[in-house]
Amino acid sequence: MSITNFPGSANSSPLDSSITKVTIPALAEMKRQGKPISALTAYDYATSRLVDEAGIDLVLVGDSLAMVVMGHDNTLAVTVDEMLHHTRAVRRAVRRALVVADMPFGSYHGTVAEGVANAVRFIKEAGAEAVKIEGPRVALVRALTDAEIPVIGHLGLTPQSVHRMGGYRVQAKTTDSIQQIKADAKALEEAGVGVLVLEGVPREVAAEITAALTIPMIGIGAGPDCDGQILVFHDMVNLSFAPKAKFARRYADAAGLFRAAIEHYREDVEHRAFPSDEESYHLSSAVRKELEAERGETEPVKRLRKA
Ligand code: KIV
Repeated sequence: MSITNFPGSANSSPLDSSITKVTIPALAEMKRQGKPISALTAYDYATSRLVDEAGIDLVLVGDSLAMVVMGHDNTLAVTVDEMLHHTRAVRRAVRRALVVADMPFGSYHGTVAEGVANAVRFIKEAGAEAVKIEGPRVALVRALTDAEIPVIGHLGLTPQSVHRMGGYRVQAKTTDSIQQIKADAKALEEAGVGVLVLEGVPREVAAEITAALTIPMIGIGAGPDCDGQILVFHDMVNLSFAPKAKFARRYADAAGLFRAAIEHYREDVEHRAFPSDEESYHLSSAVRKELEAERGETEPVKRLRKA
């Protein structure tokens, strides 16, 4: 392919030339320039379009979909095939943002070769532009980088470690664990991660790591000093049916909005207020007359409705 004709993604239709695609180097440049990076999760075509059109820089097809879309208690059950299905839908919607696919639990916890093979599927079969993995998996990051697959790291409260952590708990609160997370972040940077997500750590720790690393640091429950922020879409619009976490600001009440609309619709159907005549299709007057003549009826449409 000619580099003068580089579309935003192999799976999308040609980009509008007015859109500048967000890339990993572009995010690094934003950090250098001190420009905050906005990121959100998204899992389907409709919400991904809204997220992208609103100018969000990074869209993560998070394994949080196991909980907020599929109704599981944690993120562990979602499979590679389910993640691929959602990543494809997001890919079709997004023109500008960087599309990142979360590698689900079990898809990179065996050999490095298995991890690389699963990551390749997200790039090749779903059009992801980077994959995200949890934990300080330095050997895997090196292998993915060698395989030309951009990697986003994820440290701190890593939901796939829920059983080891004994629940969803803020991490890096002791001097030993602070030293460990700083060393892990540095090791991941050296191994080649392009961006690091820091989840559920004290603000002070996140600020120190953000200042120490050259790669962008995206926080979730990690305070305002990171290079960018990410939230789970359903938490942000009140669709997650879960108690609000301290860090998860609600920007809209989609549950309230949808509930009112659904109840209104049900009432309209029950009272025959929907659909109206204007919302109905009609026969042409010529066909109405033909039907009238055939049946010797004067009001064919009324009779048709009764039939
Ligand atoms: O799966 C997810 O939504 C995530 C974010 C919380 C970073 O990993």
